[in-house]
Amino acid sequence: MVTKTVDLRSDTVTKPTELMRAAMANAEVDDDVLGSDPTTFRLEAEVAKIMGKEAGLFVPSGTMGNLISVLVHCDIRGSEVILGDNSHVHIFENGGIATLGGVHPRTVKNNDDGTMNIELIEAAIRNPSWELVYPTTRLICLENSHANSGGRCLSVEYTDKVGELAKKHDLKLHIDGARIFNAATALGVPVDRLVQPADSVSVCLSKGLGAPVGSVIVGSKSFITKARRLRKTLGGGMRQNGVLCAAALVALQENVGKLDEDHKKAKVLAEGLNQIKGLRVNVTAVETNIIFIDIVEGSKITGEKLCKNLGEHGVLVMPETSSRIRIVMHHQISASDVQYTLLCFQQAFAGVPDENGN
Ligand SMILES: Cc1ncc(COP(=O)(O)O)c(C=O)c1O
Repeated sequence: MVTKTVDLRSDTVTKPTELMRAAMANAEVDDDVLGSDPTTFRLEAEVAKIMGKEAGLFVPSGTMGNLISVLVHCDIRGSEVILGDNSHVHIFENGGIATLGGVHPRTVKNNDDGTMNIELIEAAIRNPSWELVYPTTRLICLENSHANSGGRCLSVEYTDKVGELAKKHDLKLHIDGARIFNAATALGVPVDRLVQPADSVSVCLSKGLGAPVGSVIVGSKSFITKARRLRKTLGGGMRQNGVLCAAALVALQENVGKLDEDHKKAKVLAEGLNQIKGLRVNVTAVETNIIFIDIVEGSKITGEKLCKNLGEHGVLVMPETSSRIRIVMHHQISASDVQYTLLCFQQAFAGVPDENGN
């Protein structure tokens, strides 16, 4: 019988801490749709201040945060957004920007490090003098850290360059900052500096920061006024959501400072996994809390089988493809959980030959 669970499927699996539960129980609340929930206001103001923006808006999820942001910037149907072909908004958000907002996605190839080449972004901007046939480019969207690239970080220099390009062409810049605190921590830069050129940022509180629910989008006061209205249209106006925001305020206090530790644990795990015959991890690409593990070609075990085998020992991981597994580190994984996970991978691979058949 399995007695231990090490849940590495995502950083969204964390359970609210005692302090979060206490804060939720004691939260001062009122009706947020009527504009009078004090705890929600506190969270929105706090996140806006941390991110160096004028105002914030609590939303139930990162997906809604990105959707609202894109739709506010692209408020005329047939607008176009330039975004990465491997970005969360493009791949994992049900095409909401197109189906609900009439926004046309113009994808640019994401490099392995999550960037898009600046020249390719510029080349994707539509020439306004051809407006009879072209959609109108209104927005560029970045993602930092970049989940599908294994949590890699976009630097201040890169973000600034994209911001300059956006300004030059009179476009807005949105950052999907679901894990922006991970990126700022890994880069060793203040988070407000990292997002300085952005007109809006969507910040998740329920990923590495461990809150049970929610994201905050930040931007100018006028952006947030429009976003608030759109949130209501989408059915996202909530009442006593101070109970959720109270937990998120604790998450900001408790867990931003733990992200560095999460990144170190991820590195230790990545290095250990890369030593196992039959597995390959690009350790240098592990910049934050996400690890992609490749099963080498010719190996006797598939991703699905490996996940099942690990699951029987209480180690929960996500298959990405038949030969790739994703692990996401978070604050509720201990150093001994990391060692236990390594042991479980080792036993699953005992006897499986490496890529040279040894
Ligand atoms: C980079 C990124 N953006 C946005 C989201 C969407 O967040 P949510 O699951 O809260 O809708 C995720 C979720 O994993 C994500 O990884």
